[in-house]
Amino acid sequence: MCGIVGYTGKELALTPVLEGLRRLEYRGYDSAGIALAVNAGEKLWIEKRAGKLGNLEEILGDSVPKSHSGIGHTRWATHGGPTDENAHPHLDNEGKLALIHNGIIENYIELRAELEKRGHVFKSETDTESVAHLLSDARKSHKGDLAAAMREVCKQLRGSFTLLAIHSDEPGRIVGARRNSPLVVGVGDGENFLASDVSAFISHTKRALELGQDEIADITADSIVITDLSGKVLPHNEYEISWDASAAERGGYEHFMLKEIFEQPKAIADTLLGRITGLDGEVTKGINLDGIDKVVIVACGTAYNAGLVGKYAIEKWANISVDVELASEYRYREPAVDSKTLLVPISQSGETMDTLMAMRYAKEHGARVFAVCNTNGSTIPRESDAVLYTHAGPEIAVASTKAFETQLVAMYLLALHLGRVRGTIDKKLMVQIEAELAELPAKVEQVLETVEPLRALTRKFKDSTSMLFLGRHVGFPVALEGALKLKELAYMHAEGFAGGELKHGPIALIDEGTPVIAIMPAEGSLLAEKMASNIQEVKARGAVIIAIADAPLASADHLVRIPKTHEFLAAVLAVVPLQVIAYEMAVARGNDVDQPRNLAKSVTVE
Ligand code: G6P
Repeated sequence: MCGIVGYTGKELALTPVLEGLRRLEYRGYDSAGIALAVNAGEKLWIEKRAGKLGNLEEILGDSVPKSHSGIGHTRWATHGGPTDENAHPHLDNEGKLALIHNGIIENYIELRAELEKRGHVFKSETDTESVAHLLSDARKSHKGDLAAAMREVCKQLRGSFTLLAIHSDEPGRIVGARRNSPLVVGVGDGENFLASDVSAFISHTKRALELGQDEIADITADSIVITDLSGKVLPHNEYEISWDASAAERGGYEHFMLKEIFEQPKAIADTLLGRITGLDGEVTKGINLDGIDKVVIVACGTAYNAGLVGKYAIEKWANISVDVELASEYRYREPAVDSKTLLVPISQSGETMDTLMAMRYAKEHGARVFAVCNTNGSTIPRESDAVLYTHAGPEIAVASTKAFETQLVAMYLLALHLGRVRGTIDKKLMVQIEAELAELPAKVEQVLETVEPLRALTRKFKDSTSMLFLGRHVGFPVALEGALKLKELAYMHAEGFAGGELKHGPIALIDEGTPVIAIMPAEGSLLAEKMASNIQEVKARGAVIIAIADAPLASADHLVRIPKTHEFLAAVLAVVPLQVIAYEMAVARGNDVDQPRNLAKSVTVE
């Protein structure tokens, strides 16, 4: 949830650390802080401020000392409010050791009580500060070896964490650790990095090292040593980052979200590339699908909505029953799972704590795991038997758009794969779907041509207090996703309903002028008739209908036309106008589009 970056090398550290923080701000923006190591033995230089990175940048004048190593943090608050005092880095009592943290230290209360007894004075309400004090003591008992101290401290911590620490006695050295929270090493030339994700250092190097669970990285400008908690040196697993710095820039768009909406045709095409008529052996070699009798999809947020669409496709094409579970619910209710279960975690980041834990639970009970993920080398794919990577590229806006679209595509690819392996999909249907999949990028492009009129239409509803979304079949999860987007971005009451459920309660919400977005099933289908009746029911009670449809609809007050496609694939097209509505509503209401209040993109705590 928090963003973490460390730099040591030939450049003055302030610039790469600030640049890294700017790139990582999507992970949290309650406060930002930097600590720099200046001269051996002197106190560290530190500055931190509540609020967005901009608040910190404003106070960084010419007084920032010249330093070649430092750490920076951008926070999504959990323990302790978003104040200057609670902002990271946290220092030891001498002001010589600085620590930043992402995650939650579950035993911090007992650690703090013990440390206070030993005379440590605390300045914040955070769980993190205990670790700074603990590390300071451990370093003394390890004769100044910060990495040895980190190993000892990690053994005493419960919870999830990425930690980075520096000490002024050794400017140039940064020590990091991770457990259930991401940390990657950026390998440079005369400089090295540690960060929550590769976007922090992508403009400096494309070489990265993965760190495993409970591993410690000890870096200087010219050395990288990775060990386990016993101190055993581990081999490096280096990989090349496949996208470049421009992918993490706004490229002329007003917001990342708008840019990412427009990148969807390419993201879909990249995800489909070489996979339409069959999944590569590279993807499937780790997994044996013989004898599976159930598919369980686990995910959170937008990824969960993609899973719901996946259920429709997998059940139909692969003739196997599918449960879609909120990962946070699944992991704690001891569900029945065994070796005949195929577990499918869906995650853009590959680090969402609940999804990871749900997956681990299922694995422990024998399930086979086929992940869908957008982030190479992240924890979920690393712990899965097989992974179908979506190729959305970096998604910076907190509200997910292109990652969702590619998750839908991954669901179709997986459903087709299961249908083929199990021999359940009709050959003619398969060929038809394959052809329709290939046309999706161009059809999304066509939908994007309606963006400007849709933005103008959206502004008419700027002062509405509530918006409802109705759908049937795959249009139902699309309705849920449309409502989620609007809540996230416009801070407006929004709900998605299945058309058939309307009369069982939701219709009571309809009042004169209530905007209702109707996601119409394909023209001529049975469900299109049913939805048409639902529309009449809400219209009769005063609703204003905005229909997303592949054909004219007389009962609609406003119509957004999308191209025709196979009924399952229509979700990919129908969601685009809903993303635009949420985007424009946020702009019209003066909200922060890319960093909506209270949210973070990567939720690595429970
Ligand atoms: C957060 C993000 C959502 C995302 C969800 C799951 O809530 O704001 O956009 O859908 O986490 O994230 P994941 O990385 O697992 O897809």
